[in-house]
Amino acid sequence: PMPEYLKEQDRSHECMKLISTLPTKPGWVVTALYNYQGFWHTARQLQGVISCQKHYKAHDTDILLVTTPKSGTTWLKAILFALVNRTRFPQHHDHHPLLSNNPHVLVPFLELKLYVDDENPDFSSFASPRLFSSHLPYNSLPKSIGDSQCKIVYLCRNPKDTFISLWAFTNKLRLQEMGINSLEETFDKFCEGVSLYGPFWEHVLGYWHESLKHPDKICFMTYEGMKEQPELHLRKLGDFLGCPFSIEEDKESVVEGILEICSFDNLSNLKVNKEGKLSSGEDNSTFFRKGEVGDWKNHLTTEMVERLEKICEEKLEGSGLKF
Ligand code: A3P
Repeated sequence: PMPEYLKEQDRSHECMKLISTLPTKPGWVVTALYNYQGFWHTARQLQGVISCQKHYKAHDTDILLVTTPKSGTTWLKAILFALVNRTRFPQHHDHHPLLSNNPHVLVPFLELKLYVDDENPDFSSFASPRLFSSHLPYNSLPKSIGDSQCKIVYLCRNPKDTFISLWAFTNKLRLQEMGINSLEETFDKFCEGVSLYGPFWEHVLGYWHESLKHPDKICFMTYEGMKEQPELHLRKLGDFLGCPFSIEEDKESVVEGILEICSFDNLSNLKVNKEGKLSSGEDNSTFFRKGEVGDWKNHLTTEMVERLEKICEEKLEGSGLKF
């Protein structure tokens, strides 16, 4: 059977009507991407986008992880889950949920999971604080997120590694008979902003500017920062979310324990992540590839690097943000 993520039809009447009015371009995995509120979406995810925009009511205690695709979402989902649930599930717990569940199951996407086929998802299994995630750009977030006290953790990654990771990931999602996308062709699309939840730069800048205005509401993080100083950033997350690590916890090396459970080696070697699948059809293993900074050096030509750097310079000029 065709995996859910490839399904483009079966959208609601409202969604099909909206889609018929939107600019469209060929997708990287499915046939078409649609431009909604300035960013590119698949038909399947659009259904979830309009539904969560309409129906999601944020609680003041909710925590929302927003990321650009392939920036380390899976990793940060695991870290946030372990962090906010560390009393319920200490790191040495034999049945820690991260040992038998993919992080995407523990911290579901609003528009790709909870609201994708359901206007009224069941939240009864979520303990407070509820942890959700999204790839939505700032301007497309459900309104109740801005109106409530809920916190946003935003994660992005340098565009060169983001692009390589996205290129590799989307090729894995294509069925064999679809063939694979060339690096050159997809690179052009990425540079032109036609990528999943792209344009990449506008996505990042939207959250960057908001995080400067509202540092208590939005914590802006990068994959490179997490890789370089994981302890520091985990502590920063604890402070930001109002659950700082105590002296007792430091004596028990809780920070190190969380980072160990969530490490690439640990997560990628678990049975659930080697053999399991998401309900939307993706193999859990597709979310673990190399987990390194700088893999772009093995793929991009000098011309490609120059082109990306030039775009970065133009787009980020004056923002104070650098990759
Ligand atoms: P690479 O393709 O560069 O290896 P996302 O979770 O947003 O889809 O991002 C996927 C990227 O994060 C992949 O990057 C993946 O290997 C990396 N990743 C997954 N789990 C990780 C972990 N525990 N630690 C560090 N990187 C991880």
